Amino acid sequence: MSKALDGVRILDFTHVQSGPTCTQLLAWMGADVVKVERVGSGDITRGQLRDIPDVDSLYFTMLNHNKRSITIDTKNPNGKAVLEALVKRCDVLVENFAPGVLDRMGLTWERIQSLNPRMIVASVKGFGPGPYEDCKVYENVAQCAGGSASTTGFDDGPPLVTGAQIGDSGTGLHLALGIVAALYQRITTGRGQQVLAAMQDGVLNLCRVKLRDQQRLDRLHVMEEYPQFPNGSFGEAVPRAGNASGGGQPGWILKCKGWETDPNAYIYFITQAPVWEDICKVIGEEGWITDPDYATPKARLPRLMQIFARIEEWTKTKTKFEAMDILNKHDIPCGPILSMKEIANEPSLRKTGTVVEVDHPTRGKYLTVGNPIKMSDSPTEVTRSPLLGEHTEEILVELGYTKDQVATLRAEGAI
Ligand code: COA
Repeated sequence: MSKALDGVRILDFTHVQSGPTCTQLLAWMGADVVKVERVGSGDITRGQLRDIPDVDSLYFTMLNHNKRSITIDTKNPNGKAVLEALVKRCDVLVENFAPGVLDRMGLTWERIQSLNPRMIVASVKGFGPGPYEDCKVYENVAQCAGGSASTTGFDDGPPLVTGAQIGDSGTGLHLALGIVAALYQRITTGRGQQVLAAMQDGVLNLCRVKLRDQQRLDRLHVMEEYPQFPNGSFGEAVPRAGNASGGGQPGWILKCKGWETDPNAYIYFITQAPVWEDICKVIGEEGWITDPDYATPKARLPRLMQIFARIEEWTKTKTKFEAMDILNKHDIPCGPILSMKEIANEPSLRKTGTVVEVDHPTRGKYLTVGNPIKMSDSPTEVTRSPLLGEHTEEILVELGYTKDQVATLRAEGAI
């Protein structure tokens, strides 16, 4: 079956996480992704957080499926010539080097344009133009600078980073969208363009509701759905909201049966207004259906924590899965707190290809997260990540190099 991005050639100059997540998505959609790596060592993540000695780490393998790997020393003149041959041949160059690195390699936007005016150059950087534009950035720096950390955690605790890699993988996702849009625009303009996704911007985009709340706070000086209401105090900036819902329907995480020993025996419970009557019946508080202190969403706001404490008395008598079964019968929105172990073993996620088992020549079988985007006419088959330089010769031959020339390049360390 054909794939959405069949025929698109990606020069993948990415490393670590943010860029590789982007190019992996493009590969899953059918693009030919050629990953350029340093001679001898490759992407630094190949050797980071290893669980098996001398074998590509899960960090690397889980971010680089469906790609080909070529090693090039871009500081060697003949290596640079290979790189430029790839620039001429590819549609998109994706990179997430520190600011200035690509220019220092001689690959300025002007140089790339002169080699290939149709080339799209897509970059992840930590920050866009401004005071921090020259800074190197990793995931948690972006979470902190993009408004996530200051709004995550509990009111009486420090700022918190989240487990979801919204700075790296989140920005990679943003960049992928920019790339496919630029490819689409190129159909009519015939020109490439520069695409920039800054990690601070990507995180802020995902924290959009908190900038909404900042402006509500500026105007109203209080936010009634936050746990600080009505007894706590509000300062000038959006406070950390614990597990409160970011939307208009109050929610909280509640203990379930077994919470004393199982750190994930919890459920997220949403007191959605249209099912308030059902909630009252399920927990045995029928009086709250008509009691003016509880009957309307507005009346409930000042007593949300007390309401959740009462609901928790009920959820503590059920496992999170029993509670799910009962609540879903009443259309009460809720969600179990699933551990990674539970997710790894969930049959429905295996069935949809969201969790996939992959075989690797030196590592053996391992689990990965497949393509979260499902397309009816462009199905994803997850194939293993490449070994370092596995496709160097194959790609050079495609570029027109003879086997002798490849041997010479190898002997001088250019590839
Ligand atoms: N051959 C020769 N040299 C190569 C090479 C190759 N194939 N590939 C990379 N290099 C060199 C570069 O030319 C650069 O050298 P220079 O500084 O002398 O010009 C050098 O490797 C280092 O690149 P850099 O990007 O600075 O790596 P780093 O390990 O120091 O920093 C980051 C890593 C992630 C902090 C940085 O790349 C960054 O801030 N990236 C943008 C934001 C980002 O994506 N962050 C999230 C990462 S998950």
